[in-house]
Amino acid sequence: MASASPARGVCIRRAVRSDCPGILAIYNHAVLNTTASYDYEPRTLEQRFDWFDAHGRDDFAIFIAEAEGGEIVGWSALNKYHDRFGFRFTTENSVYVAESWRGRGLGGRLLEPLVTAAEHRGLHAIIAAIDAANEASIRLHARFGFEKVGHFRQVGFKFDRWLDVVYMERLIVNGAS
Ligand SMILES: CC(C)(COP(=O)(O)OP(=O)(O)OC[C@H]1O[C@@H](n2cnc3c(N)ncnc32)[C@H](O)[C@@H]1OP(=O)(O)O)[C@@H](O)C(=O)NCCC(=O)NCCS
Repeated sequence: MASASPARGVCIRRAVRSDCPGILAIYNHAVLNTTASYDYEPRTLEQRFDWFDAHGRDDFAIFIAEAEGGEIVGWSALNKYHDRFGFRFTTENSVYVAESWRGRGLGGRLLEPLVTAAEHRGLHAIIAAIDAANEASIRLHARFGFEKVGHFRQVGFKFDRWLDVVYMERLIVNGAS
């Protein structure tokens, strides 16, 4: 399904704080138009800055796909999975590509460094919580060794319908054990 036209000229790099408006625009478009996120309302830039700062404090990586000319066309992040201490070796990941850039391999290019960053951070498990109808994301994660470990029925509600969530997990062989 990935297009024959790869996303040439796009570089993947670690995010800096000034990338937050670009990250926010991609996220909010997905909030308003898709079930990739179960948020209903767009987030504010202030919330995105808080998110960025918390990621810095917790040493959770954020990557950016930047097109020639500087436009941010995708992002990925590791996130805290749970506040309780015993979950500290587990992370939940995010990956978002701007609508007009999807299907050109950027999801994979953003997920790859994320897995490496999780390994370097000493994490043990990466969880992806994916809307069950999101075939692109399920395929993407499967390609990176994520296995389906759960299917929760009708735990989400958006656009006037119940939504199932698939959980996929990748264990990191050299991570905390
Ligand atoms: C999911 C997402 C990140 C994938 O990124 P992408 O750059 O489009 O993905 P890629 O081009 O790397 O392709 C990933 C896989 O999905 C497949 N795919 C792409 N678009 C697809 C579509 N519309 N339907 C079904 N499969 C699709 C590709 O063929 C590829 O499969 P393969 O690995 O078996 O070859 C992107 O579509 C996106 O941002 N979607 C909206 C936000 C979202 O869903 N985020 C994930 C939340 S869990």
